[in-house]
Amino acid sequence: MIQEAIKALQDGQPILLYDFDDRETETDIVIPAEHTTPKEVYRLRRDAGGLICTAIDPIICDRIGIPYIVDVLRFAGNSGNGFKAIESIYERVGDIPYDAKSSFSLWVNHRKTFTGITDNDRSLTITKLGEITKKAMNGNKVNFGAEFRSPGHMPLLRAAPGLLKDRRGQTELSIVLARAANITPAMVMCEMLDGETGKALKKQDAIAYGKKHGLVFIEGKEVVDYFNREMAKV
Ligand code: 5RP
Ligand code: ZN
Ligand code: CA
Repeated sequence: MIQEAIKALQDGQPILLYDFDDRETETDIVIPAEHTTPKEVYRLRRDAGGLICTAIDPIICDRIGIPYIVDVLRFAGNSGNGFKAIESIYERVGDIPYDAKSSFSLWVNHRKTFTGITDNDRSLTITKLGEITKKAMNGNKVNFGAEFRSPGHMPLLRAAPGLLKDRRGQTELSIVLARAANITPAMVMCEMLDGETGKALKKQDAIAYGKKHGLVFIEGKEVVDYFNREMAKV
């Protein structure tokens, strides 16, 4: 199954990525950022319905200087500037119930977008995030602020430095798959919600959606096995 997921990503296709029975128990639709189109953004909001985010490889985040939002809030909370709301939360910032740390980073829009929320605008922001990731990966200098403004409508997710050694979210799972597929490690994802109950879509229903639409479904445990076998020692 891992090979099918890798092949689908190399072909620019979406995959369905479930995390773990002891974590969120959510399935995300995941697409390589470079291959995202307005039509795919439409699929994410119509068929997935969660939050559309873009995860980026930790090495690239370091090169560009993309922080965890937790670190920005800690800094602001310590600055003595009187941001009372931030002061009141920053010591416990990022204390999510299903993992040790949140992967959220900045929220951005590409400068050529208008509101930033339309399918065309989000698709542009996403593909440009793919481009800047590729540029940085190839060792080229990038000027993030020249291309993106913040705040915006695309949340960035910063993958943990040691990937699945450090954290087991779709943020890290998707970047492991991108590295395995040798594609640009910027991945768009959106949680699949049940249209009727509003809860996370059940695993069996996500599998059925995959069968109906010809999309590979893969579980985090398969990605972890692959990571431990092929990547963890590097
Ligand atoms: C952003 C999220 C999603 O769950 C997404 O899958 C990434 O988060 P994580 O790496 O924690 O699973 O919260 O909408
Ligand atoms: Zn989540
Ligand atoms: Ca998740």
